Parts: sequence; structure tokens; C-alpha cells
Amino acid sequence: MGYNTWNYYGTNINEKAILDTADKMVELGLVDAGYNYLVIDDCWSKKRRDPETGKIVPNPEKFPHGMNYVSDYVHDKNMKFGMYSCAGTRTCANYPGSFDHEFLDAETFAEYGADYLKYDFCYKPKDADGPLLYRKMSMALKASGRDIVLSACNWGEDHVETWVRSTGVDLYRSTGDNYDAFKAVHDYFTSQLDKYAYSAPGCFNDIDMLTVGMFNRGNVAHGGCTRTEYKTHFALWCMASSPLFIGCDLTDIDPYCLDLLKNKNLLRIDQDEECRPVFVPGSQWGDSADVYAKVLSNNELALCFVNFSDERRRLFLNLDSLGITAASGYGLRMKDVFTDEDLGVVKEFYDMELDSHDCAVYICKMEK
Ligand code: GLA
Repeated sequence: MGYNTWNYYGTNINEKAILDTADKMVELGLVDAGYNYLVIDDCWSKKRRDPETGKIVPNPEKFPHGMNYVSDYVHDKNMKFGMYSCAGTRTCANYPGSFDHEFLDAETFAEYGADYLKYDFCYKPKDADGPLLYRKMSMALKASGRDIVLSACNWGEDHVETWVRSTGVDLYRSTGDNYDAFKAVHDYFTSQLDKYAYSAPGCFNDIDMLTVGMFNRGNVAHGGCTRTEYKTHFALWCMASSPLFIGCDLTDIDPYCLDLLKNKNLLRIDQDEECRPVFVPGSQWGDSADVYAKVLSNNELALCFVNFSDERRRLFLNLDSLGITAASGYGLRMKDVFTDEDLGVVKEFYDMELDSHDCAVYICKMEK
């Protein structure tokens, strides 16, 4: 959990943006809520490596005091510091990539005091082997002497879920770039339904940074979402156990979205130590109004009802499709994660209505 600069700042990152964001993360209670990584994405370096040392060099106009200054500032706020590079020859925004410089760059990031590296996939030489490139950076970081989380970002290519855990990578982007529109929320969450089972402690499926609170501002604007749509976005990312990286401007955050990002019940679902995959217990309305379920630790269950359609809809769940038979006499005690309201014990089936693009999420326990 943390913050990544790409969605809002894009190419316009600089020291002030990072320091301000670090201050805000503490002040807004986001660090206390668990968002403790601050990751600088693409566009932080000079366009060329230092000709003598071969090292990547921070852009002195954007980072006048160098990277250690920024890293120390972030660490002083009790946060972890993240950097960005790419497995190809250039980054996606055309800055130097780490291809053939993996060990030197890993040492450089360790010198900066980095705790995290996002590692992209642009400008990969045609014949280079994708899995091997991630293995190289993984080994380089492990050799660096610093504990650095490796976040692979190959957008789900090469069936990444089948080999990425073996490389030592800690999380892996499985989707294209998130953009600020409800279509992306639907498409990215549902694109991984047959792959969430690969995500588990040690190596997590990352369905990309959050657009919650962006309201069509920043680097990935695409029409924007409503508060209701951000609510559904965040709920689905938590159901997916995706890593959670905030992307909106924290110096001007909408209070509803801030509360949403700090929702303790949703964060508990996201961070559940067992990280079991979400499953579809079945709904008679096809895929425009869906029900998703996830087994949690402590014998609990999370249920998420979503209306992806453009009109108000009725949603129906037969408890039998969760494995809770009517003959057992058991039902579900359901707690609404947004209001903390206890709905009592629901038996046999549950039906409800939802507005377009809205969702309802419950943490449930079986009871007679
Ligand atoms: C790729 C990644 C994004 C971002 C940009 C930066 O598109 O998928 O998340 O890092 O590169 O250029």
C-alpha cells in the first residue's frame, strides 16, 4: 500500500511534489491506515547516463538536492521510498532503462536508500527473454545488500502469472494502464477473474494504481468517475487483494474519497493474510450485475454486489451457491462495510437493488 506519482503527476514530478505528498500522507492519516510506500514513477532521471560512471543520474532541475535528500525525507516520515526503472533499453517515457545495467542500477537504487522498485517493460530488445529480464533485476536487488521490494510491470504479458513467482518478484502488474473512467474499473477487475488464484502471499497480482479521487484531473484523465464509481473501484480492488497505490492529488483530496481509501473493513478484505481468490457464486443477471465472494481468514466471508449496468438493477444471491445449504440451518450474519450496520442473519438467499455502477460489500460469518 502506498502512493505512486504516475496517475496524477506523470512527467511533471519533482522534489516539491514528493515532499508535499509525503507530508500529506502523514497529515491525512494515510500512513497510519497502512499506505506507507511513496514511489517515484517514470521521468525522474536525466535523458542519458553519466558517460564516465555509466550510472543513471537524477534530473538536477527536478531533484536539485539529489535522491538521497528525498529518500531521507520520506524515511523521516516513517515511510518507505520507491524508485522506477525499466527492463528495456529505455523507460516508457524514453529515459534510460536498466537493460544490461541491472546490477549497477540495483546498487544505485540501494545507495539512494530505496525500499521498492517498479520495473517496467518498454523498449525490450526483441530477442530478450521477458522472464529472464525480471530474474536479472530480482537477483541484482537481492545482491545489493538492501531489502528492496520488486514490482514487475509487464502488463500481464507472457502469461506472467505462471512464472513470475519463481523469479523472486513481489508483485506483478497484470493489466494495461488504469485510466480515470468506469470502463477501466470494470475491464481491469474482470480481466483477472481466471487468474486471481495465482496471487498469494509472497507475490501479488497488481491490477494497477488507483484512480480514486482523480475526478478527471492529472495524467490519466479519461472523463473521470463519480464518487459512486470510485466506491466500486476501491471495493473491487480490495476484493481482488490488489496492491493499493493511491494516485490522486493529495494536496486537494475529496473528503469522501479520503474516507473511502481509509475504510478499515475494505482494507481488511484487501490485506487478508490468506489472500484467497475472489470467485463468482453465480447471478442470474449475467455479467452486467454481478456478485463476487471471497473467503477470509477467521472463517469469515466477503461478499460484493456490483451493478455494472447503466440502470438500477436487482441482484440475487442464493447462499447455496456459496456452499451454505438450506438444510444446514446456517445463514450469514452480514455487516455492511460502508456503514458498519449489522443486517442480522440472512438465510437461504439475499436479494437487493443497486443503482447503476454502485456496489454493496459485506463481511459475513455463518450463524444459525
Ligand atoms: C507504463 C506503465 C505505467 C507507467 C508508465 C510510465 O505505461 O505501465 O504504469 O509507469 O509506463 O512511463
